Amino acid sequence: MPKKIILDVDTGGDDAVAILLAGHHPELQLEAVTVTHGNGPLLTTLDNTLRVIEAGELSHIPVFSGADRPIVADPIPTKPVQRSMLPLPSSTFTPQPQRAAEFLIDYYLSPQGPSTCYVPLGPQTNLALALRLEPKIAERIPSITTMAGAYIEGNTTPSAEFNVLADPEAAHIVFTAGIPITMFGLEVTAQALLSLDDAEELGKRGTIWAEIASRIIKDEVLWFMNNLGWDGGQIYDACAVAALVDPLILETQPMHVAIELFGQHSRGRTVADISGYHKNPPNVNVGVRIDRDRFMEILFEGLS
Ligand code: RIB
Ligand code: CA
Repeated sequence: MPKKIILDVDTGGDDAVAILLAGHHPELQLEAVTVTHGNGPLLTTLDNTLRVIEAGELSHIPVFSGADRPIVADPIPTKPVQRSMLPLPSSTFTPQPQRAAEFLIDYYLSPQGPSTCYVPLGPQTNLALALRLEPKIAERIPSITTMAGAYIEGNTTPSAEFNVLADPEAAHIVFTAGIPITMFGLEVTAQALLSLDDAEELGKRGTIWAEIASRIIKDEVLWFMNNLGWDGGQIYDACAVAALVDPLILETQPMHVAIELFGQHSRGRTVADISGYHKNPPNVNVGVRIDRDRFMEILFEGLS
C-alpha cells in the first residue's frame, strides 16, 4: 500500500524535483502540497509550485498557500542556487481557498491524519503556525521527515542551513513538539550529488515529468559546478522524498537537537548532541549516511 505524505515546499528547483518524485512514485500517495516562503517570496514559490503541478501532470493534487514570512524575524535573502522563476509554462491552476495551517489542522484531526507523514522541505512556518493554533495535532502527526539543518556545517552561514535559518522560531516549535522527526541535513544531501550525465540520462526516460526534472536538475548542477567548483549538484529535497520510499537508504543516529535562536554567528544552527555525552534525551533521528546508488534508483524508477 502506498505511503501517504503531505509535502510542504518553497519551490525552488530541488523542491520541484521532490514534488515530481512524490507525485509519480508508485510507493507514495501525495495527499496535498502546502507552500511556504523560502527560496523566494511566497508569490514566487506558489507560482512555481503550481507550474510544476500542472506541467508535471499532477493537477489532481490540492495545493494550499501558506505563510508569506517567518513567525518572528524578517525574511532572510533567498538562496542564489535557486532560480527565482522555474522555466515552465505559467499555470492556470489555482490553490485551494483554505490556508495551509488551517488545512493541516483539519487534515490531521481527520481520520486519515495519523497515517500520513508530514514532509517539510522549506522553512517550517506552516506547521509551526498550525501547532500553535491547535496543539492537539502534535499527537496526530505520526512522523516528520524533513530536509533541514546540519549537524556539522551550514550552507547559509557556517552554522546554519537555509531552511532552519529562514525561520528558526518555527523550527524550534516543530522540533520541540514531540513528533518523531527524521532530519535529512546537509551532511547526507552532500553524499548524493547528481552529475550532468545523470540529469541527461533521466531526461531519456520518456515521461514529461522526467524531462522536466532533467532540465531543472541540469540548472542546479551547473550552479554548483560554476559557483563552487563541484563535480555535481545537491538536489536536497529529493533525497528526503527518496527516504520515504525506502527508509533503508538512510542511516540515522538518534540525537538531541536544539535550534539556536539567539547567537550572533550561530542563529539557526541545529545544535546536535552528536556523541550523546551531554545526556539530553534524543528528539531527532539525524541522517548520517545515504545509500547514493539506491537514491538514484528511486529517483529514476519514480520519474520513469
Ligand atoms: O538548504 C537547502 C534547502 O534550502 C532546500 O530545501 C532548498 O530548496 C532550500 O529551501
Ligand atoms: Ca526547499
